[in-house]
Amino acid sequence: MDKFRIKGPVQLKGVVNISGSKNAALPILFASLLIDELVEIKNIPKLKDINITIKLLLELGVKIKNGKSLKINASHLYKNYNLPKNLIQSIRASIWLVSPLLVRFKKINLFLPGGCSIGKRPIDLHIKNLKKLGANINIKNNYIIASIDKNFKGSHIIMEKNSVGATINIILAAIYAYNITTIDNASKEPEIKDLINFLNTMGANIKGAGTNKIIIKGVLKLKGGIYTIMDDRIETGTFLIAAAISKGNILCKNTNPKNLGIVLKKLKSAGAEIKTGKDWCSINMTYRKLKAVNIITGPYPNFPTDMQPQFTLLNCIALGKSIVTETVFENRFLHIHELIKMGANIFKKNNKIFCKGVKSLYSAKIKATDLRASVSLVLAGCIATGITIINNINYIDRGYEDIENKLISLGANITRIKNNKI
Ligand code: EPZ
Repeated sequence: MDKFRIKGPVQLKGVVNISGSKNAALPILFASLLIDELVEIKNIPKLKDINITIKLLLELGVKIKNGKSLKINASHLYKNYNLPKNLIQSIRASIWLVSPLLVRFKKINLFLPGGCSIGKRPIDLHIKNLKKLGANINIKNNYIIASIDKNFKGSHIIMEKNSVGATINIILAAIYAYNITTIDNASKEPEIKDLINFLNTMGANIKGAGTNKIIIKGVLKLKGGIYTIMDDRIETGTFLIAAAISKGNILCKNTNPKNLGIVLKKLKSAGAEIKTGKDWCSINMTYRKLKAVNIITGPYPNFPTDMQPQFTLLNCIALGKSIVTETVFENRFLHIHELIKMGANIFKKNNKIFCKGVKSLYSAKIKATDLRASVSLVLAGCIATGITIINNINYIDRGYEDIENKLISLGANITRIKNNKI
């Protein structure tokens, strides 16, 4: 695993172009398995999780031309029942193979998906609701064994708890299903709205994007077309935090601030000056005092769990006490131990992180444990006094396109030490 060597403290300021959204691109790539014509997808971020997804699609016989955009043709698939376990297990998103492959192959035998170490990541809501749509599906010896007769059957689904992943699998199963599928208490993250917009662009019949009630009328066929992925709102939020904690000012371009409502509100409460436009947002923290702010994560439009480690870092060096409550993942706290090594005054009790702001952090040898924790540690290294070494930094490559160069262009002093040089 590579390391980062980061020298701090620095002030981060300048302009950054936001990349396409990982969490919109992944379901859209798997959804392309449902289309037997050429699909061209633009603004796909260059990330490890995307590369793994492309490898899985190639293993299935999908024709892919990777250039400025991704040209995908899934018209001829081989019934590959032995997709490489290491690929399937390395990303959570491989769970979105289930519905498209059941539609195409009528039966599957897939290893369980992987994902970050932020929680158990069960798939009971996927299993239960695909059964309601007519799938015969179970988990046996770490494999998802499933089959459907001819097609899924439309049904009325009431999600007992919010699940982005399960909502997506149900949508993908319902596209060609007999009759109508209604999902009540559906997740309404902007990434799901982007997936629905993609599918409707290709001829699907889905109503209720961005709401808790999604209605899918089965269609006979989707057609090919061109689609541009939305921007990555979590990357935007991460760079806004980078400016806030380093007393800098950053303009994020190619990003829709409407998808970050509560994050911008909380940054304003923390004392930041925030400006927004149609496709940009900026933060100015120079000569301003950073104040501690309580946050509670939750399903959209609540505070995004994927921004929790970054905002926890902000509270570590803000004036005053604060409480960060994590309600989505049971183990999204692995960054705390590392931040304490850098002088943070925080502790965890149940699903709450109690923070007491300190004047500054000091450098240390720390390790990344999952995607969003690793980026909060990189930002911590940028503001800590001295040289911080972060191990296991490959986690960050899963979700942030070209992160070190983007941070260097904003004034960071970061060197990637390839593991073969250690
Ligand atoms: C997606 O994960 C995202 N990943 C996550 O982003 C994001 O944090 C999460 O949604 C919540 O917004 C991708 O899009 C690839 P869930 P997902 O199903 O679908 C429990 C990142 O950093 N649950 O909404 O796995 C689950 O354990 C990643 O980019 C069940 O109990 O999230 C969790 O506690 C991290 N049973 C909660 O629901 C199930 O069958 C929310 O999970 C499914 C989920």
